[in-house]
Amino acid sequence: MLSVKGLEAGYGSSKVLFGIDLNLNEGQLVAMMGRNGMGKTTTVRAITGLTPASSGSIKLAGKDITKLKPYQIGQAGVALVPEGRQVFPTLNVRENLTATASDRSGKGYWTLERVFDQFPQLKERTSQLGSALSGGEQQMLAIGRALLTNPRLLILDEATEGLAPIIRQEIWKTLETLKSQGQTILVIDKNLEEVVRVADHAYVLVKGQVAWEGNMEALRDVENFAETYLGV
Ligand SMILES: Nc1ncnc2c1ncn2[C@@H]1O[C@H](COP(=O)(O)OP(=O)(O)OP(=O)(O)O)[C@@H](O)[C@H]1O
Ligand SMILES: [Mg+2]
Repeated sequence: MLSVKGLEAGYGSSKVLFGIDLNLNEGQLVAMMGRNGMGKTTTVRAITGLTPASSGSIKLAGKDITKLKPYQIGQAGVALVPEGRQVFPTLNVRENLTATASDRSGKGYWTLERVFDQFPQLKERTSQLGSALSGGEQQMLAIGRALLTNPRLLILDEATEGLAPIIRQEIWKTLETLKSQGQTILVIDKNLEEVVRVADHAYVLVKGQVAWEGNMEALRDVENFAETYLGV
């Protein structure tokens, strides 16, 4: 589904990514982990065209998207739930959800109704402004908005950051549901316990390079994984 090879990117003259290789098969939930500032957000910004790659290639379902503009990558089927959520504060819940709605995968599963079934809290607040929602609700809104583009690949950057444990669990439960429906997902998250429970494969970035990758069985076999790679 997604194949990234030798990806390099940075900001101005400062290089951040030094040759990232990444692979996601269709239907997989893959996690990207690593300490602060290691290049996780930059990697997904490069995949979505926000920070263009200076070297390497990015393919989505066989199609080269390396040099496409962000809106073209969106149209190709990549949806990003960005760090910090970024819901439209002056649009209401319904408008936030439908502003970018489309059917990019051609499967057309996600409708407003199904998003409301998935996140009943949002249904109760359809005419409230995005800015009036709690952090957890804003996160659900951001996920719902991404789902309504019916993406081939859903990317979440720290979707559970700063949320109460119970909301975190709810979001992970949503990810599990999406995975069981065959949605391909790349998730950046620091919550090792949930990653081990739900992910098929994980990558760890250290200073803009993949320092470790493997499945969850292999991850459990790494001694002091969290201390070594996550600094906890
Ligand atoms: N807009 C920017 N301009 C310049 N440098 C940046 C910018 N965004 C990030 N960087 C730098 O790039 C490096 C990688 O940052 P990035 O945001 O990709 O890390 P991250 O792994 O997502 O970290 P975190 O866990 O804190 O979200 C850091 O050194 C950071 O300071
Ligand atoms: Mg980040």
